[in-house]
Amino acid sequence: MAETKTILRALAGETLPTPPIWMMRQAGRYLPEYRATRAQAGDFLSLCYNSELAAEVTLQPIRRYGFDAAILFADILLLPQALGADLWFVTGEGPRLSTITTQVEFDKLGSGEMIHDTLNPIYETVRILRRELPEETTLIGFAGAPWTVATYMIAGRGTPDQGPAHALKDENRALFEAIIERLTESTIDYLSAQIDAGAEVVKIFDSWAGSLKGDDFDRYAKYPAKVITEEIKRRHPGIPVIAFPRQAGDGYIGFHAATGADCVAVDDSVTPEWVAEHVQPGGCVQGNLASKHMVTGGQALVDETRHVVEALKNGPHIFNLGHGITPDADPENVQLMIDTVRGG
Ligand code: CP3
Repeated sequence: MAETKTILRALAGETLPTPPIWMMRQAGRYLPEYRATRAQAGDFLSLCYNSELAAEVTLQPIRRYGFDAAILFADILLLPQALGADLWFVTGEGPRLSTITTQVEFDKLGSGEMIHDTLNPIYETVRILRRELPEETTLIGFAGAPWTVATYMIAGRGTPDQGPAHALKDENRALFEAIIERLTESTIDYLSAQIDAGAEVVKIFDSWAGSLKGDDFDRYAKYPAKVITEEIKRRHPGIPVIAFPRQAGDGYIGFHAATGADCVAVDDSVTPEWVAEHVQPGGCVQGNLASKHMVTGGQALVDETRHVVEALKNGPHIFNLGHGITPDADPENVQLMIDTVRGG
């Protein structure tokens, strides 16, 4: 039977008259109904591990806006937690983890099947969503890319320039590479379990890929994405993979071919015309309206939305922002973006 879900058609390489649309962080603090459910759950991690409430917040933007895809509500840092790292979130500041900078600390991490003990509630969220999502809505599972997750594990927090991870890479390459390998293996197992539970697409978030240069980009962004993509496709033939090597610049060129990803998501540091010329010939692209328009709205939002649609209309395209929507966004601007994409 021919595929009817628009996201899956675009991922299969079809150029559609109207691009399907979803939004990074579409379940989030800009929505009053998210804030209410989060208050009910307690803190952010309690919400992630409460399958019923995590499914509820995943469904909220689908009910409100009818996006073409839902993304599982979870976080990229649940995987290091499942490997044994301590994880907590400081309100207004972001994540904190116990650091891994020595062989002794690394040796305390787990591996293999043990991650599922912690991550089972996430798979249950996926199962609930497959039952409750509208038939036309595609369910996307996800994980962080090894490099991005490693930057948090090594520093114990988010860092503006990923300095501690670069330092470990330069000072103890064997340990750094052992961390990347452990994350690559467990990311495959994590994504694979999400697919077994019902995820129809998986996305690999490499939010800090842009700080890897030259050979480092090939070894620690491209190569892990290729290993993960190939193994996912071997275990689950037909499951599409979206790769997001954010701020990769010229590194976006050839990323489909080098990794086997069906779609490359692009941020808004590159223009849609550049993406059409250099990235879209390789396959489906996703992006790349600047998130600030969800705050500022108005005619500029309409003009820029049309600009992205127009520039990418001659090849497979999934409309999205260039990065996640921010908590200060106005929910009405999201509706205006959707109406502009769907209505011209
Ligand atoms: O997109 C979605 O709606 C799905 C859920 C999702 C979340 N995080 C929920 C979340 C996804 C796909 C992520 C990915 C994620 N998490 C990334 C990669 C994508 C990116 O944004 O670059 C990264 C780097 C993280 C790590 C993380 N999680 C940070 C740095 C923070 C704190 C910053 C912030 O926005 O507060 C989080 C928290 C987080 N993850 C929130 C949400 C909705 C906010 C938590 C809250 O409700 O307080």
